[in-house]
Amino acid sequence: MVVMAGYVASGTPTGTERDGGRGPMTLATAGDLTGYLGPVLEGWNRDHPAEKVTLVELPDSADETRSQMITDLRSGGGRFDVLNIDVAWTSEFAAAGWIAPLERDRFALESFLPRVTDTATYDGRLYAVPYVTNAGMLFYRKDVLDREGERPPRTWAELERQARTIAPKYGLGGYAGQFLPYEGLTVNAAEAVYSAGGTILGDDGERVTVDSAAARSGIGFLARGVRDGWIPREALTYKEEESRQAFQDGRLLFLRNWPYTWAGASGKDSEVAGKFGAVPLPGPDGPGTSVLGGANLAVSSHARHPESARDLIAYLTSEPVQRRVLTEGALPPVRAALYEDPALVSRFPYLPALRTSVLSAAPRPKSPHYEQVSLAVQAVVHDALAQHQTPEAAVRRLADELAAITRRR
Ligand code: GLC
Repeated sequence: MVVMAGYVASGTPTGTERDGGRGPMTLATAGDLTGYLGPVLEGWNRDHPAEKVTLVELPDSADETRSQMITDLRSGGGRFDVLNIDVAWTSEFAAAGWIAPLERDRFALESFLPRVTDTATYDGRLYAVPYVTNAGMLFYRKDVLDREGERPPRTWAELERQARTIAPKYGLGGYAGQFLPYEGLTVNAAEAVYSAGGTILGDDGERVTVDSAAARSGIGFLARGVRDGWIPREALTYKEEESRQAFQDGRLLFLRNWPYTWAGASGKDSEVAGKFGAVPLPGPDGPGTSVLGGANLAVSSHARHPESARDLIAYLTSEPVQRRVLTEGALPPVRAALYEDPALVSRFPYLPALRTSVLSAAPRPKSPHYEQVSLAVQAVVHDALAQHQTPEAAVRRLADELAAITRRR
């Protein structure tokens, strides 16, 4: 059952009753890494002087943002009206009653890429509206591979060979992703497991499916990279931003990261501007599987002005703003037509590869216990990468931990 604590328990009239649900509001989001959101919201504020939105920027890291949002929502809310939540959190926030169900016909869901709306639904209802999507890609040093007469890798074996043999010749680290224990490592580990054909939990979110040859091979691939040195040990401390910095400082041959990397790595202070490319992630025998990332906009159950909040979400998912999400924010929009707009494709040459990656991306395990599931994945996989445990033992331990978590109800 969904408990609408904010509406009933407090006994105080909601914004809807007092003022038609319209008035000023806040929008809470994880760090706006490209600084585009302020100007986008100014556009709204100019046209809606009585419904102004104030941007509340939380930390860059998904985990810290989640915990700040939850602290506020648990205590009865108040600071955040509209929440830009990671796609991985919709079920948890909806199940806890922190976000309010939304009316499908108020938003342009039919114009979005297929399946992104699945990440915004829980128990058959819409609890958020897709705002940005995301898929991991492989960024590579095109200048270096061209000089070597090589093409970007499509398989793990090619990636490993190039990272082992070419990177050291140029004084570069071979390959990195986000390997610090936090949500980013869950993503990287899931991509390795999915690419090898495995899964972590069954579709019911309860059955533990991780104890497989595929999972051992996926985690083994990453652990071997660290052991053999073609994944620099420093990558065990990387989140998105540290890894992007390493790539754009010219310290890595290959980086798995989200597409926003393109903007920074093309910038004035980048050592690799014009010298890199991006392709779908490799897998064991051909292209691998990315995890579906991104963020959905939700209305807090305690929102002071829920009608304004819904209109703001419609504005942020409108075509003109979605275009700016890409052109100014360097983030993957959810509107499908933008990926085939010739002017955008010539300006952002990675768009077709990104579209392919998003369309074939796989969601993270869906579970109301998602946080514990993710924490277990991070801890165990980090131990395997740090060579504290063999991939075989790590996968077995993960299966046991997940079984304990999903049994706990
Ligand atoms: C990006 C993705 C998000 C993911 C996070 C992990 O922000 O869009 O879905 O959870 O990275 O660090």
